[in-house]
Amino acid sequence: MLSRLVYASRATVPFDDDLPAILQWCSDVNPSLHVTGLLCFLDGVYMQYLEGEEAVLESLFASISKDTRHAGVTLLEKRATPQRAFPQWSMKLMEWDDRSRAIFRSFSPGSRLDLYASDPSTAAPLMRALIREVDWRL
Ligand SMILES: Cc1cc2nc3c(=O)[nH]c(=O)nc-3n(C[C@H](O)[C@H](O)[C@H](O)COP(=O)(O)O)c2cc1C
Repeated sequence: MLSRLVYASRATVPFDDDLPAILQWCSDVNPSLHVTGLLCFLDGVYMQYLEGEEAVLESLFASISKDTRHAGVTLLEKRATPQRAFPQWSMKLMEWDDRSRAIFRSFSPGSRLDLYASDPSTAAPLMRALIREVDWRL
């Protein structure tokens, strides 16, 4: 069953030093797993939206949860989905700018930009809204 999974975590290194290796790994491995998705990184917090077969996502999430490059891995959403939101992307890195920050704020009015504090019910819609509205740097 096609499913999606969204989680948030805190990078153990506060900067984006681990990102190139993670993204390279994703582009090497995710196509063979038929996994697609989006990775956000903001102020030392990751939020990742993964989509693929349920069993594949479960085992991938088990590996990701044990990865020492981040901690406090918190599942925000896991559910069946009729179609992929990011069919083209083995894993796309979300780049932040004023517009994407404004979209984020529209989902969490009044609060500071903290991906880790995202409401589980709005995390997935937020990530889909970000890609609809934002100019992507390829
Ligand atoms: C924030 C983050 C996102 C990751 N995303 C993926 C991913 O989409 N696909 C993947 O295969 N590994 C991803 N990884 C790497 C996995 O955590 C892990 O290193 C990899 O699956 C190998 O796990 P294994 O040693 O248990 O086989 C990610 C790691 C981090 C820290």
